[in-house]
Amino acid sequence: MPRIVLLGPPGVGKGTQAGPLAKALAVPHLSTGELLRAAVAEGTPLGKEADGYMRAGRLVPDELVLHILTERLERPDARPGFLLDGYPRNRAQAETLARLVPVDIVLYFELPEATLVERLTQRRVCPTCGRLYNLATLPPKVPGRCDVEGSSLVQRSDDAPEAVRTRLRTYREQTEPLLEFYRSTGRLRSIDASGSTTEVGRRIRAAIDRPNP
Ligand code: AP5
Ligand code: MG
Repeated sequence: MPRIVLLGPPGVGKGTQAGPLAKALAVPHLSTGELLRAAVAEGTPLGKEADGYMRAGRLVPDELVLHILTERLERPDARPGFLLDGYPRNRAQAETLARLVPVDIVLYFELPEATLVERLTQRRVCPTCGRLYNLATLPPKVPGRCDVEGSSLVQRSDDAPEAVRTRLRTYREQTEPLLEFYRSTGRLRSIDASGSTTEVGRRIRAAIDRPNP
């Protein structure tokens, strides 16, 4: 089973694609953003410390993220393979990950910045099951309600315009340089993340099935 990293800017569709892909590959979806949001919601000491950074759209300190990540990676379901979404996000994290586990494939999602901003500002989330919606592109059947749970959809606090600007800047400054790091390993595969979720899903499957050069 493969060990896959999903790399790409905020709003590009990593979380949307990760659900069905994880199911198809029979590996767990490990999202550091989701793990951190769960810690914030539970009010754990780690969550309390992370909350301010996340609201502002800044990176949570490396040691906090590493703590929740290693805890999750050590669970038996993640041993044979995983989809890692949102980690690494800077050079130090990439080096840490290389020491922790081998990575087979890095999928790099690409999309113009204007589309990222549109996707983020229109995003809504089900607070019960985490399902993702978009008011413009993937609306719920009943306005404001999750198709599965019927819960009232919410907006992520870091999808406010100021936090979105900070997240995009943080991505460009700290995460984008990882492209070179992974390109040099020969494991990077670029995905055009435009078009429908089905089209993007097809490109991802084709990229995973392609042998390494
Ligand atoms: P995280 O949760 O990882 O957020 P992110 O990287 O900013 O990415 P997003 O979740 O916003 O976007 P996505 O690519 O998953 O897009 P989605 O599928 O939702 O991190 C949040 C915060 O946690 C960070 O800012 C940081 O503070 C902290 N953090 C996390 N990891 C960390 C780390 N390693 N180190 C330090 N701090 C860390 O899609 C977006 C929208 O588009 C949705 O509305 C969706 O419905 C729609 N959409 C998706 N695909 C399509 C499509 N093909 N067509 C039309 N609409 C689409
Ligand atoms: Mg996400």
